[in-house]
Amino acid sequence: MTQPPEIALAQTSLLQAMIAIAPGGVRIGCRVIRDGDEAHLLPEEAHSIPARQPAMRRASGAVRWIAHGLLAELGVSDVAILRAPTGAPLWPDGITGSLAHDDDMAVAAVAPVGHISSLGIDVEPAQPLPDDIFTLVATPADRMDAADRHLAGRILFAAKEAVYKAVYPLDREVLGYEDITVDLSAGQATTKTGRKISLAYCLAPRVVVLAFVDGDGV
Ligand SMILES: CC(C)(COP(=O)(O)OP(=O)(O)OC[C@H]1O[C@@H](n2cnc3c(N)ncnc32)[C@H](O)[C@@H]1OP(=O)(O)O)[C@@H](O)C(=O)NCCC(=O)NCCS
Repeated sequence: MTQPPEIALAQTSLLQAMIAIAPGGVRIGCRVIRDGDEAHLLPEEAHSIPARQPAMRRASGAVRWIAHGLLAELGVSDVAILRAPTGAPLWPDGITGSLAHDDDMAVAAVAPVGHISSLGIDVEPAQPLPDDIFTLVATPADRMDAADRHLAGRILFAAKEAVYKAVYPLDREVLGYEDITVDLSAGQATTKTGRKISLAYCLAPRVVVLAFVDGDGV
């Protein structure tokens, strides 16, 4: 089916921005969430995702549609990406990845485990973060000097979510915003569990943050 031009444009411009920030070996993709995207869930995936609002199931279908394509590029086809009871996606052996969606857009990243041992991703609208959420997310140790002034809070929020998704599968520990310190100027984050995480982000047409843990671990 042919896509309306505005959908194709939104996807193409975000994909270009994401490819520009992705480190070598990381495959990345995006998709505007559409009516009917829940049909892209494989039966086992649909079963693993607890009953939720239709919009959430659409988003989970859209993001898995992307991830299935990225896995196929790595030579892995017809694999279900189940949702563990913890919420984390379960990847095939030898592969790490991460999924995210906002109200309109789904994004995914995958990589063979090697130079990178774990990945996290988040997507957010390119709009300032409300002050009350910024107060919850930021700590005095966070550094945002190099970031766009209006979007610094939004980038910080997305960075902490992406870091959480990257480290949770390694440590199985629930972290709060206060447990993650972000230095956007240095492109790095640290966790209270002693992890060091590299960060890359784009701002337009959406804020996307990619967090990755090097293959040598801590
Ligand atoms: C993972 C989390 C941080 C973000 O989820 P969110 O904002 O609701 O939604 P996003 O679109 O950004 O991401 C959803 C995807 O995250 C992934 N995810 C969920 N829990 C995860 C976990 N524990 N580890 C890694 N990835 C996870 C899933 O793939 C999910 O997609 P799916 O529902 O289609 O399977 C949140 O759900 C969570 O578990 N929070 C608890 C801890 C917390 O909030 N700490 C403060 C942030 S550091």
